[in-house]
This record gives sequence, C-alpha cells and structure tokens, in this order.
Amino acid sequence: MAATKTYLTGIQTSGMPHLGNYYGAIQPALAAAESNDTLYFLADYHSLNSVKEPARLREDVRSVAATWLACGLDPERTVLYRQSGVPEVFELATVLASVTAKGLMNRAHAYKAARDRNEAAGSTELDAGINMGLFNYPILMAADILLMEADVVPVGRDQAQHIEYTADIARAFNHLYGDAYSFPVPEGAYPQGEGSVLPGVDGRKMSKSYDNHIPLFMAENRLKKLVRRIPTDSTPVAEPKDPDSSVPFQLLAYFADAERTDGVRKRLEAGGMGWGELKNELFDTINDRFGPMRERYEQLVAPGSELDDILEAGAARARGRAAATMAKVRRAIGID
Ligand code: ADP
Ligand code: TRP
Repeated sequence: MAATKTYLTGIQTSGMPHLGNYYGAIQPALAAAESNDTLYFLADYHSLNSVKEPARLREDVRSVAATWLACGLDPERTVLYRQSGVPEVFELATVLASVTAKGLMNRAHAYKAARDRNEAAGSTELDAGINMGLFNYPILMAADILLMEADVVPVGRDQAQHIEYTADIARAFNHLYGDAYSFPVPEGAYPQGEGSVLPGVDGRKMSKSYDNHIPLFMAENRLKKLVRRIPTDSTPVAEPKDPDSSVPFQLLAYFADAERTDGVRKRLEAGGMGWGELKNELFDTINDRFGPMRERYEQLVAPGSELDDILEAGAARARGRAAATMAKVRRAIGID
C-alpha cells in the first residue's frame, strides 16, 4: 500500500459558498478525506487583507466552517481549524521571508494585477492602495502549507502560482538547511477536465465575482425565486429544445441522477417540457439534495452551537503538528 499523503487546503472566508464551490472544491475535498490524512483550514488572516469589517469577518468564518461540516466533513477524520488558531504560522512566515527573493513576490499575479489596475487608472504611484498583506500573501500561504508538512494541496487553477512559489520557497530553505531539516516539497492537485466548471445563472463560470451564483444554503423561498429567474429563451412549451444550451438543464445535470437527467433531456428534445417545468425540476433537485444539509447548517451557525468547540479542537490538533515542525525548523536555523 502506498504511504498515506497529507492533503492540506485553505479556504477563503468570503461569504457563503455556492454550488460551484461545492462541486469544484467541497465535494472533492470530502472525497479525498476518505482515504488520506487531511487538514482543511479557514484562511482568516488571508481574508483580513480584503475584509475590514470585524463583524463580517467573524460571520464569514463561522458560515464557511458550518458549510463544510453540514456538507459532511467529519472533524474526527479531518483536522478543521482556523488559520488564526495556529500562531506558529506567523512565526514560520517570518522564517520563510528570510529565504524568499523579493523579486519572486514582485512577479506574483495578484500583486501585479493590482499594480496594472493602478497603471490603467493613470496613477503615478503603482503601489497605491496595495497593502503589505497582499504583497506577503504568497509567503503566508507557503507557511500554511509547509508548517503541516503537506504533500498535496488541492486548489483551483488560479492558485497554481502560489503552489509553485511554495515549492520554490521550500527548496530555498532546504538548500540552506537541508542537512538539519528539509520540508517536503508540495504539489498542487487541480480539478480535471472540461466538465469541472459549473455555470452560473448567466451561463458564465459560477463565481461570486460575477454575482451569478446560487448560494448553497439560501432559504427555500429565495432559492425558488432565484431558480425561476434564470434567463431562458421564449421557445414555446411544445417546441423541441436543445438541453445542452440551457443553463437550468446544465445545472440539473450536475445534481440530478443519470436517470432523472436523461428523462428530462428526452422530454425537452421532444418538445414535451417548457422552461418553467424544467426550472421547477431544478429547484426540486437542489432542494432535495441540499435541504437536509441546510437544516444542519442553520443549527451550526446559530450562536452557542458546537461549532466553536469543533474549531478549537481542530486548532489544538493543528498546533500539535505545528509545534513539532517548528522545533525542527528552529533547530535547523539556529534559533532554539
Ligand atoms: P469564486 O469564484 O466564487 O470567488 P473561489 O475562487 O473562492 O470562488 O473558489 C473557491 C473554490 O471553488 C476553488 O477551489 C475553485 O476552483 C472552486 N470553484 C469556484 N467556482 C467554481 C465553479 N463555477 N465550478 C467549479 N468549481 C468552482
Ligand atoms: N489562496 C487560497 C485561495 O484563494 C486560500 C489559501 C490560503 C490556501 N492558504 C492556503 C489554499 C494554503 C491552499 C493552501 O483560495
């Protein structure tokens, strides 16, 4: 049997996750947890760079944690914690900064994009409005990963550069201190294939930044309204329709079983189903699938639920691993 690998991923805490996040990130991460050592954490200090409202930051962290638990994350099996609950992350970030070339950070996509926006706006100061948290973001992320000696980091493709930077930073450390201690050099695991991007209500990739998303646990009546408002053309009920060019059908195909999807496909093609009925079918499918999880979600986000204890127990386990790594790192660098 192959040795079990350590999987680690950080979850941005920006509002309630949507169906695309479920399909592209949550579901595969829960599947990976069945047969691997897994650590999943809420990247609250990364969120601090963009969220400056304390109440919202607090609420987002609880909402995202409750979502993962409601979707089936088993906190006995997976270490679920808040980044801020593991202070060793910040200690390691300082150590890593000392072996990281500033030029590497200058070339980071997120930082460059912020400078390009300033340039496009005609600003003479290209760093205007850019905080050091954004500049240091890749180093903090490398610390998250290396601290837990992760082997595999499942993330979206947009994060590939961050994983490459983490590997570069690990190699730089290992080159200097490898006689005493070496970090495992991690690799990214990215979603495969064309079918991995769920469309939003306007047909583009579902994303919070396009505001075309369906939040996982929105209230039933609001979900119904949102599904009914998905744009469709004016083909009459009795006319044949092309299921594959219809957003409600594409979404249905992700969440209904093969038999149900096939039945709907045949009726649309034969001209026996209108868009309204298709949307009712989509609403029922989403509601049947996520309704029970929504109830659990609501219990967990309520103040005083067991959520805070679960996160604290996860942080205690994560700190145990962090302390072991930091003892080796400190000895290797001569600060012990
Ligand atoms: P958003 O685009 O809404 O801001 P994020 O970029 O925070 O979402 O994505 C978080 C995770 O969810 C990533 O792993 C990403 O690959 C996945 N994801 C986001 N949107 C989709 C989608 N439409 N289809 C599949 N996976 C998605
Ligand atoms: N940057 C990641 C994102 O935007 C979140 C993140 C922070 C992360 N630290 C991490 C992901 C460590 C994987 C490993 O999605």
